Amino acid sequence: MLDTASNRPDLPSEIARRRTFAIISHPDAGKTTLTEKFLLFGGAIQMAGQVRAKGEARRTRSDFMQMEKDRGISVSASAMSFDFREFRFNLVDTPGHSDFSEDTYRTLTAVDAAVMVIDGAKGVESQTQKLFEVCRLRDLPILTFCNKMDRESRDTFEIIDEIQENLAIDVTPASWPIGQGRDFIGCYDMLNDRLELMDRADRNKVAESIEINGLDDPKLAEHVPAELIDQLKEELEMARELLPTLDPQAVLEGHMTPIWFGSAINSFGVKELMDGIGTYGPEPQPQQANPRHVAPEEKKVTGFVFKVQANMDPKHRDRVAFVRLASGHFKRGMKLTHVRTKKPMAIANPVLFLASDRELAEEAWAGDIIGIPNHGQLRIGDTLTEGEALRATGIPSFAPELLQSCRAGDPMKAKHLEKALMQFAEEGAAKVFKPTFGSGFIVGVVGALQFEVLGSRIELEYGLPVRFEPSQFTSARWATGEKQPLDAFINANKQHIAHDHDGDTVYLTRLQWDIDRIARDYPDVTLSATKEMM
Ligand code: G4P
Repeated sequence: MLDTASNRPDLPSEIARRRTFAIISHPDAGKTTLTEKFLLFGGAIQMAGQVRAKGEARRTRSDFMQMEKDRGISVSASAMSFDFREFRFNLVDTPGHSDFSEDTYRTLTAVDAAVMVIDGAKGVESQTQKLFEVCRLRDLPILTFCNKMDRESRDTFEIIDEIQENLAIDVTPASWPIGQGRDFIGCYDMLNDRLELMDRADRNKVAESIEINGLDDPKLAEHVPAELIDQLKEELEMARELLPTLDPQAVLEGHMTPIWFGSAINSFGVKELMDGIGTYGPEPQPQQANPRHVAPEEKKVTGFVFKVQANMDPKHRDRVAFVRLASGHFKRGMKLTHVRTKKPMAIANPVLFLASDRELAEEAWAGDIIGIPNHGQLRIGDTLTEGEALRATGIPSFAPELLQSCRAGDPMKAKHLEKALMQFAEEGAAKVFKPTFGSGFIVGVVGALQFEVLGSRIELEYGLPVRFEPSQFTSARWATGEKQPLDAFINANKQHIAHDHDGDTVYLTRLQWDIDRIARDYPDVTLSATKEMM
């Protein structure tokens, strides 16, 4: 039995040891560095989730990766699995740039917890706040890592206050920094009464850990300068008086976040954080679905697609659907039902993004993320079961905030363009609308940078130069309703009607006034800024 803050006591041990989580942070706070250290301590050396391609293909792919690198963003999310102590961690990487928030949002539907990384000098930054709000919508438990403590940082109380105030969540210190900036020597582990000392000389060395018998232990003086001991005692006394103590249940419910202080680059505080994820992060949680929720301990396998990545290798037009297993014990070769099409699918080559590369997944359990290579059958929001007609819910698609019309540089290639755009739409990289009037396509994204990425990918992966041009529309809404009122609405607004890649009706406009007018004139038609992906 694992000694953890469980809220689901009856799980099989293989499921109970899984921790599936994402890291949320503002760019530059140290997410990449922390991920590397996780993998280092988890025994995986190289980042997984990146597919090795050969020769020419490798060059093309690395060109694309170069674009990611130049911009300092990670365009696509991937999953990595590694073991730490008795736990199996599944870390789902989220793109940090705000232009990719929809992808990030969906990634967060596939995890049970999030690690929030903040920069000790900067505190809660805009992107952290945005991502935090998304986690809050799902009451995700959040563990906080305050990074870069080896540099000048803010006062500890000030950092904690800022999180409490800006994010409206209780913060409880799991560790307490000793000294500041150049004088920072390590942390006092408040959960285990230990002294953790940072080694500035060797960045990959794990901190030295010294058991202490309370703050009056004379051992403290052997390692910490006298003036810092006085300061530490004073601060800890205040902290214990003013700040809430760790309540594992409140953490699981997302009302309280424990905070660890450290320095990812110096490998400091990372193991304590990993222990914290094991102990206070939840095991795989039930999945919302229709007509019933799915519990992880159910014997039968259920999974849902939260991300599709196409053309990881441009030579092979392959796609990988990232599936979060919601229940059961999956074995390679299993036949699962693709609920949307009711067709059976033999899952012959599932991949697990383990250790240094992707590997065939011989088995996987609820909580794991597996990649299923396919030729386009699997879409975001799809559910796989052992036959039951269940559909995972809560995986939304957002109305794009920017629209542009898209044309092939060569008009003879319009069909090719359609194919490419549909593929990106299914991957979730953009919304593609085909207006009922006129030719061409309208492409919608959440952030402007996505147009550039899309343009480069269409050119790289399909050899098709494309042009994006301003569109006469600026907003898109999905229109739903009973057939009769919906048809009447469509007929009266033909110039504004388009269809998305699923064939669903979309209303395009440039005026909020139009949207309000329709709400008034067509009370039986609903215009919506989100759509459940199915
Ligand atoms: P991100 O993924 O959140 O964007 O952050 P990333 O890990 O790339 O870290 C951003 C910068 O902060 C990097 O420096 C990284 O080395 C540095 N960094 C990360 N953790 C720490 C830490 O604990 N202490 C200090 N002092 N710096 C840290 P860079 O100059 O942008 O890149 P590089 O030249 O170091 O690779």
